[in-house]
Amino acid sequence: MSEGLRQAAYIVAALFFILSLAGLSKQESARVGNYFGISGMAIALIATIFGPDSAGMAWVIIAMVIGAGIGINYAKHVEMTEMPELVAMLHSFVGMAAVLVGYNSFINPPTIELINLEDAHAEHVIHMIEVFLGVFIGAITFTGSIVAFCKLRGIIPSIALDIPYKHKLNFAAIMASITLLIYFVRADGSIFALIIMTLIAFAFGYHLVASIGGADMPVVVSMLNSYSGWAAVAAGFMLANNLLIITGALVGSSGTILSYIMCKAMNRSFISIVVGGFGKTVTISSDEEECEYREISTEDAAEMLRESRSVIITPGYGMAVAQAQCPVNVMIEKLRAKDINVRFGIHPVAGRLPGHMNVLLAEAKVPYNIVLEMDEINEDFSQTDTVLVIGANDTVNPAAMEDPHSPLAGMPVLEVWNAKNVIVFKRSMNTGYAGVQNPLFFKENTVMLFGDAKSSVEAISKVI
Ligand code: TAP
Repeated sequence: MSEGLRQAAYIVAALFFILSLAGLSKQESARVGNYFGISGMAIALIATIFGPDSAGMAWVIIAMVIGAGIGINYAKHVEMTEMPELVAMLHSFVGMAAVLVGYNSFINPPTIELINLEDAHAEHVIHMIEVFLGVFIGAITFTGSIVAFCKLRGIIPSIALDIPYKHKLNFAAIMASITLLIYFVRADGSIFALIIMTLIAFAFGYHLVASIGGADMPVVVSMLNSYSGWAAVAAGFMLANNLLIITGALVGSSGTILSYIMCKAMNRSFISIVVGGFGKTVTISSDEEECEYREISTEDAAEMLRESRSVIITPGYGMAVAQAQCPVNVMIEKLRAKDINVRFGIHPVAGRLPGHMNVLLAEAKVPYNIVLEMDEINEDFSQTDTVLVIGANDTVNPAAMEDPHSPLAGMPVLEVWNAKNVIVFKRSMNTGYAGVQNPLFFKENTVMLFGDAKSSVEAISKVI
């Protein structure tokens, strides 16, 4: 394949990626968006593998077969609830790839066409800065993503690491890296400076994510998404690969926009995320532990629903764990057949992935027009007869609004307690992801329906 043809293929692939992002921005067009993404990636792979400068084809094919084998096997078995961990792990691969490309590019620098000595020197300096920044961003992304993976999987506790002078330490890491960059360029490349900076960046990435508390993990996921994009951009510059630069910029900027949306949804400041460590150590108030809650049976819950004219369902992570989305759809069809107005209220960080609940409800074929965002539905709770909180906890916790000391303080939540009746579907009095007790469970208009959400919903459907 000639260079011209390869560049043309790259432009087509880049357009496909942009169309893919456009498609993925709406549920109705998400499937088409995925097809655009797959096609773009197929074109990009063919153009890269059969490009004019490709070499060692056998190695490439062996690596691809092994990688594809592991990827297909894992993708087949991964549960929907494990997707955030998978995404975090994949981000770490991008970070490590940028580190390895950086070291490779330092050891085997590209040949610079000698136009004149000054230009050649400038190009060389630019290349060294690219290597340094690429390794720096890649190393932060790598350890940050590994910590995110461990927190999401529960291997390490989700509470915020709170070491003394943490902001000063972060600042010192950045200053040391800048000093090493200056030394690296002046010394015309120094493997010593590169290795020291890599170690600092590994520690910095670890600390950045470790010091963010459980409740704020959604922002971490989107932030690492953005970092992985910028790591790919850095690798693209080092490899002089325009498509990698474009794709990385698309991922990096959409990740940044997503982080901004997440910050708004959680009422957090963007700057505090970039510097890290805005989460707080979690405590459970003993007052609430002593409060009383009331239980309800599935028969009585069905009766309450039958008598309602309006129902709002607020799903959360527990619905994903129970895989209750299809039974929920069966139940709402029965309610709608009785002329009951049923709608869903979706919190932006419900579940463990941005859009997690929307994906599940789309999979269960719940009509899109009854699935509303938190801002669209929050005012309607006061005119609602019954709210079903299915496997949600932190996203319906009034402490976020009422208790300034709560780790959730300031985060907008679904104000379900304003409804006439609230039924909470969960298995126990356990806390949600943030590890804080929920005063909603002890309110007078709230009843608890204990058990697996899928079984409870199916039992209600039977008698409705
Ligand atoms: P959570 O606060 O995580 O609460 C989920 C609840 O579901 C738990 O209290 C659990 O109680 C219940 N549950 C679990 N399995 C169940 C089952 N099989 N049947 C019935 N109930 C079950 O959920 P949420 O309201 O969706 O909030 C999401 C939390 O995750 C937020 O803190 C958010 O910041 C964080 N987070 C979000 C993301 C993104 S991007 N969305 C990423 C990382 C973290 P029992 O154990 O008693 O059943």
